[in-house]
Amino acid sequence: ELVRLRRHFHENPELGFEEFRTSAHIADLMEGLGLEVRRSVAKTGVVALLRGGKPGKTVAIRADIDALPVQELNDVPYKSKTPGKMHACGHDVHITAAIGAAMLLAQHRENLAGNVKFLFQPAEEGPGGAEPMIQDGALENPKVDAIIGGHVWGSLDSGVVEVLPGPIMASSDIIRLTIHGKGGHAAQPHTTIDPIVIGSEIVGALQKIVSRQTDPTEAAVISICLFRAGDTFNVIPNSAYLEGTVRTLNNTLRQEIPKKIDSVIRGVTEPYGATYELDYYFGYPVTVNDPGITESVRQSAAKILGAENVRTAARASMGAEDFAYFLLAVPGTYIRVGVRNAAKGITHDMHHPQFDVDEDVLASLPVIYAQAALDLLNASR
Ligand code: NI
Repeated sequence: ELVRLRRHFHENPELGFEEFRTSAHIADLMEGLGLEVRRSVAKTGVVALLRGGKPGKTVAIRADIDALPVQELNDVPYKSKTPGKMHACGHDVHITAAIGAAMLLAQHRENLAGNVKFLFQPAEEGPGGAEPMIQDGALENPKVDAIIGGHVWGSLDSGVVEVLPGPIMASSDIIRLTIHGKGGHAAQPHTTIDPIVIGSEIVGALQKIVSRQTDPTEAAVISICLFRAGDTFNVIPNSAYLEGTVRTLNNTLRQEIPKKIDSVIRGVTEPYGATYELDYYFGYPVTVNDPGITESVRQSAAKILGAENVRTAARASMGAEDFAYFLLAVPGTYIRVGVRNAAKGITHDMHHPQFDVDEDVLASLPVIYAQAALDLLNASR
């Protein structure tokens, strides 16, 4: 049943904040299981509450529900029916696993000491649905005490789960920089203020923030990924525009970097007489797992997969995830769930047009979620 359900979601992908059919289908299913359902939370999100038969705390399970603007290149019977859109990040599996956990837990609701709240979140791929869901009260009534989330992991073998206490995903911020120089003839550079030469210096100088001004044991990345300037070979343009991203695994370091960036840009532009506008946009924060809940979920997952298949991740990822906002509000943990299966030819990573998952994960992930919620509730009685 879950394979059929996952394939249905896979065939019908919808982008962030447009997940109208997806969320209606989720809400209908959760109502069918007897849960209390709130629709249209943060536009296209769904909150479904399973009230246990005994008093206790509330554990949330979060699933993101949006797809990506990717043209699917898999030749499978459940291929995306919508051109240019695809569940290339496996959120179809996240939805299905949360529904599967609800199916299991709903059968045992009389014995459940506390509540399990299912958060189906829109727009994880951007602009972000977690923060609006929190603002829309998703963590209240009843108040959520702990939260569990997970992501299918394309480089990890099916049947294996990775946990990691502390930071697991990076913060993700955006730099937008306009350099105002003075255009002119390419053969008379002394009469101009060349924004391309200045911009090039800035690209190099920014790299030294990470290599010379950041503790080498702390991870940080500054990548300038867009540099737009000029129209032809013999004209120095008036201005240049640069865009890039800043990633860290430490929320304190993250707050220090914008000032350093501004200082570097000022230091490079001033001697040339150029001016600049820097727009520093704070995106997703660092995703930081609570050590106690991470250990609890490790033990729960070990009951399902065997202890040898629940591993501590070797390192965090510099990718970002708006589950971070939930973890700033409530202690919890985010796990990586293996879906790779070379024997079945399933080897592409997330966001690839041929990304797919070993559907065997649908037999274990819902059980892991249910077991983890149950263990957390029982431990807090
Ligand atoms: Ni994703």
